[in-house]
Amino acid sequence: MKLLQEAIEQRGTIINDDILKVDSFLNHQIDCRLMKAIGQEFAAHFQDQNVTKIVTIESSGIAPAVFAGDCMDVPVIFMKKSEPSTMLDPVYTEAFSFTKNRKYTLCMERQFLSKNDRVLFIDDFLANGQAFLSAEDLIQQCGAHVVGVGIVIEKSFQKGRALIEEKGYDVYSLARIQAMKDNKILWK
Ligand code: G4P
Ligand code: NA
Ligand code: NA
Repeated sequence: MKLLQEAIEQRGTIINDDILKVDSFLNHQIDCRLMKAIGQEFAAHFQDQNVTKIVTIESSGIAPAVFAGDCMDVPVIFMKKSEPSTMLDPVYTEAFSFTKNRKYTLCMERQFLSKNDRVLFIDDFLANGQAFLSAEDLIQQCGAHVVGVGIVIEKSFQKGRALIEEKGYDVYSLARIQAMKDNKILWK
């Protein structure tokens, strides 16, 4: 997606060979016009999948997920990263972040997904795919099915895509980074 690649090149910061900072339009300040285009792109790609719900993880997945949900006219659920407290009937699982090198609990209210739901999972970054695996676990605990994975920025040099594709899912990434070297992005 050209508009997104331009935003990354012009407004992103390469922190090191592994980490890209996109605080000015995705992870802190949100560029709504860009996010709207991102939502439309996901909606167009997954239009034949009969998606009934979009699922993401708080916090940075929410913006692209909500714009896609608006476009596809389906509800958006964001999984929470804290222990269930006020939830009536939660499902939860352990998740691990390589980037932050720590474990966390991911949870959601069971009632928001059921066996008839066809779920599109959306997230801001795809690195090692661990966030998706935990989300898939919760979606399946609710009896629902994943019908696609939409990613805003894929770091193709990490193993997330291979892991998700191995499970048979369609992974659609709007920007695919092959490498970040000498302060330059090499697109896949
Ligand atoms: P994985 O799910 O693909 O295995 O990735 P990992 O656990 O390593 O990612 C942990 C967090 O770091 C996620 O957000 C993810 O979106 C983010 N992340 C991964 N790579 C990058 C990167 O290059 N740049 C930026 N800016 N973020 C990256 P989070 O911290 O769990 O939550 P939140 O930001 O959504 O609140
Ligand atoms: Na994220
Ligand atoms: Na993030």
